[in-house]
Amino acid sequence: MNLRIIVGSTRPNRVSDRVAKWVADEAQTLPDTKATILDLIDYDLPLLDEPISPQFNPDRKPSPSVQKFLDALAGADAFVLVTPEYNRSYSAVLKNALDYIDFQFAKKPVALVAHGSTGGAQAVAHLRGVLPGLRSFTTPSATFIIGRAGEIIDETGKLSEELQNDPRGPQAALKATLEELKWYSDALSAARAAEDKD
Ligand SMILES: Cc1cc2nc3c(=O)[nH]c(=O)nc-3n(C[C@H](O)[C@H](O)[C@H](O)COP(=O)(O)O)c2cc1C
Repeated sequence: MNLRIIVGSTRPNRVSDRVAKWVADEAQTLPDTKATILDLIDYDLPLLDEPISPQFNPDRKPSPSVQKFLDALAGADAFVLVTPEYNRSYSAVLKNALDYIDFQFAKKPVALVAHGSTGGAQAVAHLRGVLPGLRSFTTPSATFIIGRAGEIIDETGKLSEELQNDPRGPQAALKATLEELKWYSDALSAARAAEDKD
């Protein structure tokens, strides 16, 4: 599985970047998996400034910064969105990035890893409604971190020792989320390959 993990926050003092590292470390334990973090802070994406909806513009000419973002998505089989919850939804910076996508997510699965004071359930619920717009879908389970993720995950992406082996804790939840993602990723990669042979 060629996986991109998208960091859904660009604010100073964010913790989504360390959550993404935690996800990447767990993903590397899956067989045949290469995980890459795609940090939105590295892409200078303006608020959507395209004259026609990206999916409906055959003559689309993305600006260099947008093209760089689209190129970074290309070739992935699956995605993880690391999303904070802001005011009962996911972040505006993540929505803006998703709106630039034309077909890079099509027929590919997306897993959600959410965090926030109350765990990010409303961010997850809203993203589940959005991804079909990109011809994609979210996998059934998701990982939720309730409270301050920065207090349990350090800057290197390491979860605190006492939670690592908790069968009902975040590490176990993340493992299950990623294993499920890989199942869908493998199934859809095979289906896309069969389609290409036709
Ligand atoms: C503007 C703003 C609004 C927030 N609203 C919520 C919220 O509605 N529900 C929640 O659970 N947490 C909320 N939080 C807490 C964030 O989810 C939490 O601080 C998280 O760490 C933010 O991710 P980040 O540090 O990567 O930006 C909010 C934080 C900010 C900055």
